[in-house]
Amino acid sequence: MALDALFQPLRLGDLTLPNRVVMAPLTRSRATPANVPTALMAGYYAQRADCGLIVSEATAVHPLGMGWYRVPGLWNAEQVAGWAGVTGAVHAAGGRIFAQIWHMGRLVLPDYIGGAQPLGASAIASEGETFAPPPPDYDGGFLPMKPYVVPRAMEQADIDTVVKAFGAAARNALLAGFDGVEVHGANGYIIDQFLKSATNHRTDGYGGSIANRTRLLREIFAAVTAEVDPAKVGLRISPTSARKGMGDEDPGALSEAVAALAQEFGLGYIHLIEPVAAGFMDMAEDPVIERVRSLFKGVLIQNGGFDGPTADACIAAGKADAVSFGRPYMANPDLVARMQVGLPMAAPDFDYAYVGEGRGYTDYPRFAG
Ligand SMILES: Cc1cc2nc3c(=O)[nH]c(=O)nc-3n(C[C@H](O)[C@H](O)[C@H](O)COP(=O)(O)O)c2cc1C
Repeated sequence: MALDALFQPLRLGDLTLPNRVVMAPLTRSRATPANVPTALMAGYYAQRADCGLIVSEATAVHPLGMGWYRVPGLWNAEQVAGWAGVTGAVHAAGGRIFAQIWHMGRLVLPDYIGGAQPLGASAIASEGETFAPPPPDYDGGFLPMKPYVVPRAMEQADIDTVVKAFGAAARNALLAGFDGVEVHGANGYIIDQFLKSATNHRTDGYGGSIANRTRLLREIFAAVTAEVDPAKVGLRISPTSARKGMGDEDPGALSEAVAALAQEFGLGYIHLIEPVAAGFMDMAEDPVIERVRSLFKGVLIQNGGFDGPTADACIAAGKADAVSFGRPYMANPDLVARMQVGLPMAAPDFDYAYVGEGRGYTDYPRFAG
């Protein structure tokens, strides 16, 4: 199997990616309970360093934006030191890694933030439930689930704090040795909550028109690019996803505005979650990929339900420059080699997706034939 397009090198800022396989961000909850990355995580990422680019698991920029047990952060020196161990291991293995920087907004349970009300664009709760922190007698198994709560609509001071936190996390990412940062604007987290009409009912300068709903993102871009060369900044979006009660009255127009904003700031890439193959989310009815591509001149990474041949075809058709793989990377540390040769793929054990230590994390073998 040739897959010629997928295995061509790609320029991203001053980096040369040896291939167009990107490891998608995957939350795996192996940091310490104080949100510090560990040596186990360094080993896991180093196992996957032969891809073109690793995007780290979502990494919280501020304690109030952190609502998941044992996810990493980037707001203090201990976390920077922990991440330096990870980036050092990836670089020693010949790889490149960006930090995905993240604020969960309304998807934080009060249990994670001392009982406080989480922050959101508007006072609208998400559908569904999520993992609560462990009880005192926790045995390492599945965490209890709790429903999301109604967030407090952010005031100007809250917005200013979040914007500053993104800038500080970007600075910390460079201190920790990351090659760049990816702003997490996807999957119903704080930026997405401001962008989309279903969750943004504000009547101030951050709500209503598309220009207003993209204002928080504009401010975050300004804060992040003040710290990091824009060519080393990416943005992840999921414009057509309806998960967790998300939705927009005109995803095409919103995506065009977001793409134009990324272009205005000279961002290195847009990472688009918009399944065109199968799987993680429902297929987009009216895909925005071509609209984003026409307005954004940087690298376009596509994601969602791809395998080697479909990724190769997407790149060969000029729809994207690279493709990211999430679930395939869980059980196949040697995904690049497997796709190159057309070897069978191992299936992940989802029981260990978000809990545990090495089992179901670093113990998936390379293909042995
Ligand atoms: C276990 C797991 C953890 C994930 N964590 C993140 C995350 O931290 N940040 C993010 O943007 N997406 C996250 N995602 C979504 C993936 O990056 C990706 O968009 C999704 O798995 C679809 O791609 P795939 O079909 O290649 O798996 C996660 C997905 C899974 C299965």
